Amino acid sequence: MLYSRAMKKEHALHRDKPTRISVLFSVFIFCSSVVVAEDTGEQLFLNNCAECHQRDGKGIPNIYPALAGSEVVRGSSVDVALVMLIGRGEMPSFAGAISHEDMASIINYVRNAWGNSGEEISAQRIENLR
Ligand code: HEC
Repeated sequence: MLYSRAMKKEHALHRDKPTRISVLFSVFIFCSSVVVAEDTGEQLFLNNCAECHQRDGKGIPNIYPALAGSEVVRGSSVDVALVMLIGRGEMPSFAGAISHEDMASIINYVRNAWGNSGEEISAQRIENLR
């Protein structure tokens, strides 16, 4: 009697294991999606660029140029990369501050936000420009 109760308990534990693993797995997927969401081009733009160019990409007239509709931004991803790497006027260089992967995400974001549309640039291309 005692023995069989122990056996049942043992079985119950075993049945629980896959459930526990799938719960852990969902928690893991949830956490990693949160981390990925933080690294999107939009988030990187908000963290690094929006202070001057504003969340809506419209900038501040006569101080910070708009990126929405900007000929530079719409023109060539390489030009945008060069502005970020070298800096321009009041705008600091981001060469030492942002990795080429993150730069690519930001460029692909600004070139395709607020009505802009442009082909994507790869992190490799930016690495070659450095
Ligand atoms: C401290 C304020 C500041 C920050 C932060 C900043 N910029 Fe700028 N940005 C400027 C200014 C000022 C100019 C105009 C420079 C000039 O032409 O003299 C400019 C110009 C540009 C241009 C050229 C636009 C055009 O039409 O000529 C691009 C592209 C650009 N910035 C992208 C970015 C991106 C992407 C980021 C974030 C990684 C960023 N900027 C962060 C101030 C800033």
